[in-house]
Amino acid sequence: MGLKLSGNKGQQSHRLVIFAAIIVLMTLLILYGSNNVNDAVYAPFHVATNYAIKATDLKKWSGKDGYVPFHGNKTMNLQCHNCALVTSSSHVLGTRAGKEIDSTECVIRMNDAPTLGYETDVGNKTSLRVIAHSSVFRVVRRPNEYLQRPDSNPVIIFWGPPNKIGKEAKGTLYRLIQRISMTYSNLSCFSITANKMRKFDSLFHRETGRDRQKSHSWLSTGWFTMVIAIEICDNIKVYGMVPPNHCGKSKPGSKKMPYHYYKPRGPEECVTYLQNEGGRRGNHHRFITEKQVFSRWAKQYNITFTHPNW
Ligand SMILES: *[C@@H]1O[C@H](CO)[C@@H](O)[C@H](O)[C@H]1NC(C)=O
Ligand SMILES: *[C@@H]1O[C@H](CO)[C@@H](O)[C@H](O)[C@H]1NC(C)=O
Ligand SMILES: *[C@@H]1O[C@H](CO)[C@@H](O)[C@H](O)[C@H]1NC(C)=O
Ligand SMILES: *[C@@H]1O[C@H](CO)[C@@H](O)[C@H](O)[C@H]1NC(C)=O
Repeated sequence: MGLKLSGNKGQQSHRLVIFAAIIVLMTLLILYGSNNVNDAVYAPFHVATNYAIKATDLKKWSGKDGYVPFHGNKTMNLQCHNCALVTSSSHVLGTRAGKEIDSTECVIRMNDAPTLGYETDVGNKTSLRVIAHSSVFRVVRRPNEYLQRPDSNPVIIFWGPPNKIGKEAKGTLYRLIQRISMTYSNLSCFSITANKMRKFDSLFHRETGRDRQKSHSWLSTGWFTMVIAIEICDNIKVYGMVPPNHCGKSKPGSKKMPYHYYKPRGPEECVTYLQNEGGRRGNHHRFITEKQVFSRWAKQYNITFTHPNW
């Protein structure tokens, strides 16, 4: 009513104000976004300076008692000479590495990274899947893809806060995974004990000089997966992981690579890494710091990186 009374001119100026507001908002967003990235480039999280890394022998680090079954009395006794660790990065796309991956004794995957439709590049075999508590629902929604494979008996390790996923908590998530474990008896589902979760934290602290909680960091599924892979595999070949310095030097015209190979329209890999690395508020993954540690471990254990090679 008010608009109609004020006539055409009023409507136009009203529109103009809205238009101007949108422009200002967008400019602010763009400025804020680029600021964030710059922040990350010039003030990386990094391993604390002057910190003398206390190397840990991961082969002796934990023992197998850090994994408890969701159902029955299975024990986590996966041991492999050769492992393929297939990352979820879009760098795996177009590699045609599927045959080589499938011919490896053990194939390790993460979260809900699918094989269906991507077999040529990532293969179709899974020996171990490491799943974050936050990915459980995505996995459960598609049981034929992740749980009900006729030719395999994969081990699945779930990691998460003990109050969500731990045996003592008996929460919704715990009961859901327990039901899966009972339904698909070919699967061996384990959770990481509270004690071992603390060991993962102190390992991060020893390797980086940073307290995970005080530095507002979350460990990534990649961190858990790499440590578990070192525990169970003599040799590890990693598919699709970029080296730690990959995103720092911005090459003009370099191709934008999606963070996940199965989400072509999802976030970009380097943007995700840099924003997480530079994040001060809230909790962030330190993908780049983690890769710095991985590159050190690669010299200590037999870890090779392919697509890209480093
Ligand atoms: C536990 O596993 C052993 C073999 O590994 C089996 O003999 C035993 O019956 C199992 N116990 C229960 C309670 O399932
Ligand atoms: C996996 O791929 C191979 C070929 O690479 C094929 O022979 C095999 O049937 C596939 N298995 C499944 C379960 O899709
Ligand atoms: C379970 O594993 C056995 C052999 O390991 C296989 O023959 C069977 O088809 C599998 N069943 C399911 C439902 O995956
Ligand atoms: C290291 O692992 C690769 C495969 O991942 C293997 O080809 C190579 O022989 C291994 N090297 C040693 C010294 O075991």
